[in-house]
Amino acid sequence: DSNIDISGWDKIPVPSNWQLHGYDKPQYINTRYPFPIDIPNVPKNTPAGVYAVDFTIHDDIDVFSKYIVFEGVDSCIYLYLNGRFVGYSQISHLLAEFDVSEYLTIGKNRLTAIVTKWCDGSYLECQDKWRMSGIFRDVYLLIRPKGHIGDIEVKTDVTEDYREATVKVDIESSISEDSMVTLFNSFGEKLETSLFDADGHAEIKVADPRMWSAEYPELYKLIIESGDEFITIPVGIRTQKIEKGVFFFNGRPIKLKGVNRHDFNCKNGYVCSYSDMKKDITLMKRHNINAIRTSHYPNDPRFYELCDELGMYVMCEADIETHGVGYPHYNNKNCDLKRRVRGTIADDPLWEAQISERVMLMVENFKNHSSVISWSMGNESGYGCNFEKALIETKRRDPSRFTHYENVLSGATEMQLFLDNQPEALDTVSRMYSTPDWCESAIKACEERNYSKPLVLCEYCHAMGNGPGDLADYWEIINRYDRFMGGFVWEWFNHGLYAGKADNGKPKFLYGGDFGEKYHDGEFVCDGLVSPDLKPMPGLKEYKNILKPFTLKPIDLSCGIFELTNGYDFSYMSRLEGSWELSQNGNIVASGTIGSLAIPPKKTERITLGYNMPADGNCFVKIFFASYGNNCIPDGEIVGFEQFELPTEQVIADKLHYGRVMFEESNRDITLFTDSFSYVFNKKKCAFTSFKVNGKELLADAMEFNIWRAPTDNDRNQKNKWYNACINDSKPFEKSTEIVENDGVLTIISSFIMAAPTKWPHFEVKAEWSVFSDGSISLHLNGKIGKGIRFEPIPDGSLENMYDDQCDVIDYFPRFGFNFKLDKSYSNVEYFGMGPYQSYCDLHNASYMGKFSSTAQREFNDYIHPQENGNHWNTHFAYVHNADGAGIAAVKEDNSFDFSAVPYTAQELTETKHSFELQKSDKTVFSVDYKMSGVGSNSCGPLLLKKYRFDDREFTFNVRLIPTDKLLKFSEDV
Ligand code: GAL
Ligand code: MG
Repeated sequence: DSNIDISGWDKIPVPSNWQLHGYDKPQYINTRYPFPIDIPNVPKNTPAGVYAVDFTIHDDIDVFSKYIVFEGVDSCIYLYLNGRFVGYSQISHLLAEFDVSEYLTIGKNRLTAIVTKWCDGSYLECQDKWRMSGIFRDVYLLIRPKGHIGDIEVKTDVTEDYREATVKVDIESSISEDSMVTLFNSFGEKLETSLFDADGHAEIKVADPRMWSAEYPELYKLIIESGDEFITIPVGIRTQKIEKGVFFFNGRPIKLKGVNRHDFNCKNGYVCSYSDMKKDITLMKRHNINAIRTSHYPNDPRFYELCDELGMYVMCEADIETHGVGYPHYNNKNCDLKRRVRGTIADDPLWEAQISERVMLMVENFKNHSSVISWSMGNESGYGCNFEKALIETKRRDPSRFTHYENVLSGATEMQLFLDNQPEALDTVSRMYSTPDWCESAIKACEERNYSKPLVLCEYCHAMGNGPGDLADYWEIINRYDRFMGGFVWEWFNHGLYAGKADNGKPKFLYGGDFGEKYHDGEFVCDGLVSPDLKPMPGLKEYKNILKPFTLKPIDLSCGIFELTNGYDFSYMSRLEGSWELSQNGNIVASGTIGSLAIPPKKTERITLGYNMPADGNCFVKIFFASYGNNCIPDGEIVGFEQFELPTEQVIADKLHYGRVMFEESNRDITLFTDSFSYVFNKKKCAFTSFKVNGKELLADAMEFNIWRAPTDNDRNQKNKWYNACINDSKPFEKSTEIVENDGVLTIISSFIMAAPTKWPHFEVKAEWSVFSDGSISLHLNGKIGKGIRFEPIPDGSLENMYDDQCDVIDYFPRFGFNFKLDKSYSNVEYFGMGPYQSYCDLHNASYMGKFSSTAQREFNDYIHPQENGNHWNTHFAYVHNADGAGIAAVKEDNSFDFSAVPYTAQELTETKHSFELQKSDKTVFSVDYKMSGVGSNSCGPLLLKKYRFDDREFTFNVRLIPTDKLLKFSEDV
């Protein structure tokens, strides 16, 4: 009834998700349906929102056709105007246009929409996301002349030599005689006008076209004039094709340096403003990303306009995922894989029309966007007749773009089966989370059989929390093979929802389960290369430098001769300006500029920096390029760097020790002292409990051996093995402690096991601590894996040792090292190692070797789900001190080490669920590790690659410690 009084109704902004405005609550679910499965029914009593708005039409608009457009409604909409039913629509992420010409009146009108939380379409929308409802994109009234043109389709064609392009326009129209189209170039100059023929076709030729690419998003402008209507369509002239398994764009093989992106805003849920989207794309471009997969539904229409304008290659994905009903035979190993991957819905003809409609409407909606290079059928729905048809229809409708669907034979490891059973209408073979090795063997198999389809990773490098650690390994392979198109990191956004400020002033980001909802997959919400409020995480910086648009190959490092290759596909290197810096022991001793070089795309030139290599020391040359004149990158911003170690001689001066260290021994302690220091070694703790230098105590608590790290999100699977093995409880248990004296130097020989109650040992350790009269302490430690741990499953039936069946099997240890707890005034951190960002053995491409100073606060990477962070790999020197310089330094003896200095212990980070729940800290935790395992991307990706695991069976760890009460200078004092 359009006359009922709505003045007392609650008000809600449109667009919005009602769950973020006090109705119902957000629910995060990954793979499952949040309602009982009863295909195709959803619960009859599904929650609903009834929206009503009154508006007034002042003028007589009878001569027009009138439409009301909803650009996105979850899950479906029943529309009424002035009490009359206008129509129904579903497909949450596609626009719905209602012809209201017959319903609209002059004067007051009332629009009423009933939106239900679920509908049968929800079975096709089981994407890994917050499940929320409502009118979440723009709504508008569209008024057009009666008999206006219908569909418009623009295509471009370019001659082989790229000297001439043809812009072809087709319109659906009944008034075509006077309809025409005019083309303008990007400077606004009019090029040509052409009339549409009787079939609604027109063509315009462009001589020497300026091609559109993500690097140069050159847009021409078409204005279509028909009756009283003028329609503007930006058009990029470009070509794409797949030939012999290689993807060519504008005639060149290119790589997709991609990310998966959801339409998301931490305050508004599904609602993304124009400026949100622009910020996203700009930030991606500043990190050398050139491609987006709109996982797993079409994005806001404005998003495609921005991608055209700013330059992004888009894999446009249909609003389809049926993960919750999955693949009914998947676990039935008796039937063949082709049968096992058939999806319940994918293979049920009942759903054919819906699947095809979702795909084809996407194609129709976005076909005129230059940025769109691919049509993706959806995600994780299994395979079946419905996708077979959708692929064929898509290819028939738009043969110019490549088709994509990952879920054809997902998980097939056997190459023959995988490659020989891809549907013909599918242009690419796609995978998610396969190992780099698997990808390489797939590429090789493709080469062998002259396979026609290139390989793309629609998801890889699961960026959840600290990570991903395997980016460099994938790109090493992607860059080597033209058939490897690239990939899309999962994923851009961390979906934490902002819930105001916590009492401690920190932003409160909530994830699944935090709303008290019962069915949720909390942990998945925390993945993303950027934080919920769009702050780049270390993983994004890593990605940036791996994707940098140039490579350098050293030819002669002694004087700085390199081969520089321009990595751009279409641009000369001229818009980049190069510089270099040479450092010796962390100090910059020479620098220079390379300037801008007109190296053509993908070509190599030799450059000579012409420095004189220092005679000795730890010397590195770092070469970096800054961007100028790029539409998205601020002038002067560095787009990437590379660093090389110079082959200088390393002279290690022998330290001479005069004087004598004394000791006293009790049952519990050994105290070692001279006039200027006194250290206490606790035999039971197998570690020092006090470092006093000139009367000043440096330690706030006993030093501790530690093999635990706060599990990262990527340790999700491994951590259960660690917990089983009680690695989190591992502590030293003393076996024996001796002290020996040799020439004034005292050495404590401490033998212990690292072990936890109820378990056989994790490690057998012999640590020799030599204390010199200058106060420095040399640790020489030998560690052997204990009887309680195996790295491979126990062979069936064979009990090699009597304790084998009590062994815990892990793939690798988190770390091995020790830490000091210092008062929070010891917050200055100086180091020579991989910085300035956190670095791990498998994640250090954003960092370089140098001397850095920082603070424990700044060292801490505040992941919304607290976890291990702040490590520095390849450290030579690490020094944590207070304002006076009092503190502890660790210096490499033979091999470099890992270290971190952050305000929290591994235990505290392990036990805290949200960043905003971390208590203000009163300490600095300084960890020195023989090794810290890599971070990988095993939250969804493969097991941490072997080379990054700390799985040594025996090792030696040599490091020197310097407790000090005054400021030390690296390279002079150590
Ligand atoms: C993938 C899926 C994504 C997301 C991811 C886990 O398998 O396609 O949508 O769920 O796993 O973060
Ligand atoms: Mg899924």
